[in-house]
Amino acid sequence: MTQTLVSLEGVSKAFGPIAALRDVSLAVAAGEIRGLCGENGAGKSTLMKVLMGLVRPDSGVIRIAGEPQTIRNPRHAQSLGLGLVAQELSLAPRLSIVDNIWLGGEETPLIYRMGKLRARARAALDALGAQDLDLDQPVLDLPIGQRQIVEIARLLARDARVLILDEPTATLSDVEIERLMRILKSLRAQGHAIIYISHRLGEVFDICDTVTVLRNGAHVSTGPAIGQTRESLIEDMLGRSFGEMYPAHEAGTAHRGGVAIEGLAVPGAVHHLSLFAPKGRITAIAGQIGSGAGAVNRALAGLEPSAQGLVLIDGEKLTLGSAPASAAANVLFVSDDRAVEGLFPDLTALDNFIAADLRAHATAGLLSWKGARALGLEIARKVGLSEARLGSRASTLSGGNQQKLLFGRALARETPGVLLMNEPTRGVDVGARADIYRLMRDLCARGWTLIMTTSELEEVVGMADLVYSMYRGRIVKRREGEEIDLTAILTDITHPMKDEAAA
Ligand SMILES: Nc1ncnc2c1ncn2[C@@H]1O[C@H](COP(=O)(O)OP(=O)(O)OP(=O)(O)O)[C@@H](O)[C@H]1O
Ligand SMILES: [Mg+2]
Repeated sequence: MTQTLVSLEGVSKAFGPIAALRDVSLAVAAGEIRGLCGENGAGKSTLMKVLMGLVRPDSGVIRIAGEPQTIRNPRHAQSLGLGLVAQELSLAPRLSIVDNIWLGGEETPLIYRMGKLRARARAALDALGAQDLDLDQPVLDLPIGQRQIVEIARLLARDARVLILDEPTATLSDVEIERLMRILKSLRAQGHAIIYISHRLGEVFDICDTVTVLRNGAHVSTGPAIGQTRESLIEDMLGRSFGEMYPAHEAGTAHRGGVAIEGLAVPGAVHHLSLFAPKGRITAIAGQIGSGAGAVNRALAGLEPSAQGLVLIDGEKLTLGSAPASAAANVLFVSDDRAVEGLFPDLTALDNFIAADLRAHATAGLLSWKGARALGLEIARKVGLSEARLGSRASTLSGGNQQKLLFGRALARETPGVLLMNEPTRGVDVGARADIYRLMRDLCARGWTLIMTTSELEEVVGMADLVYSMYRGRIVKRREGEEIDLTAILTDITHPMKDEAAA
């Protein structure tokens, strides 16, 4: 018989009026990978925070290896063999990798910097295929994908037997995801129990033995992944049936203009890049983490101070390196790093929506509260955020709902402009994802120019009218229409042909 490593029995938790968890039970065995699915706000992260001692449940029992435990705090959870990679990355950016791996542990820096623990940190990184990472390098220098790897190494170094990964691949490139999948399978073979939270159902089917679905804080179903289909899983999550994920590409009206980029350079990220993104179309820049794709959008948004080159928006020259200049040119940016560039965590959802376009709601300098609220309601409906959440502070919303906020801010604008999106549906649940895809098409029809970067190739194929593939700061391929094919793009971004790379 397989051994149950961890179980939760009848766990409930309310935050004020919001019942985040309602009588949820769950048991995970050694050598099992359990998928945990559900819409944004379903309670997945909260359930895991209960396990880690980050959230105190109102009721319920937790057993570790059969023993009932009251988990006091994360350190206590860790001593019981539990480890979490949180949805929000939790590393201290200024500290080195080795400091981050042992941060918050029992040992003092002096001991672990020199001794056996240093070797253990090294071994954990190596096991994740991160031989290239230097232990003494500050985390600040690492791209977001590699920070994630450090987070996982942190658990391995601390001998966690139960590994909880809360949307671990949201920030990883396809190649990194593949590596993570291999690692998780080998950890399963070694008898770890793994709880895997993801909105990417392909991954869930790929790696999970069993799947549990939560909806509105309650347990809906648990069963073998093989017994489920994509449709049945989505139905469990949404409580209703579900049509097509990607809207049809409509030829639509031809718009003139768009974004023309000539010889764009961002030191260390983008080298002499030229492309044209037509108005009324979705242009995708595909590339792995570190390809420079994200930096192109950041440069257009005015967030790369040393960007050089010529950018014309509908023939008008854009001043580079200035966020206000980009904003004035009606360029909006949905960032992949909502914690840093996106949201005002202490403002309400409503205030976050309208923050992007305050002037439009101000009459003679006074903000029209009524107008703003009506607009907020409309946007909330469009992005699938429940009206009840409009008054909640952004920081208390679930991860996916925060992403909806960010997206909603762009939609608050009336005049068509340029919408830049880095990883637009990261952490967004299937239902809302389909909503956002439809919105993107609506914006096209209204004459917006959309440029997105995404590490999810399925999304590129489903949404893009035009694809530029990047590799190490350069465009290696342009594809349009029928040429947009998943395997072909994967090849472009990983093994570009020499002659094309030189072009
Ligand atoms: N500290 C908090 N204060 C108030 N409400 C909270 C807090 N933490 C979570 N909630 C609420 O509890 C509910 C469950 O949130 P949770 O973060 O567990 O969702 P989730 O399933 O992880 O969603 P996502 O897929 O978007 O990450 C949500 O309604 C959320 O807004
Ligand atoms: Mg969550």
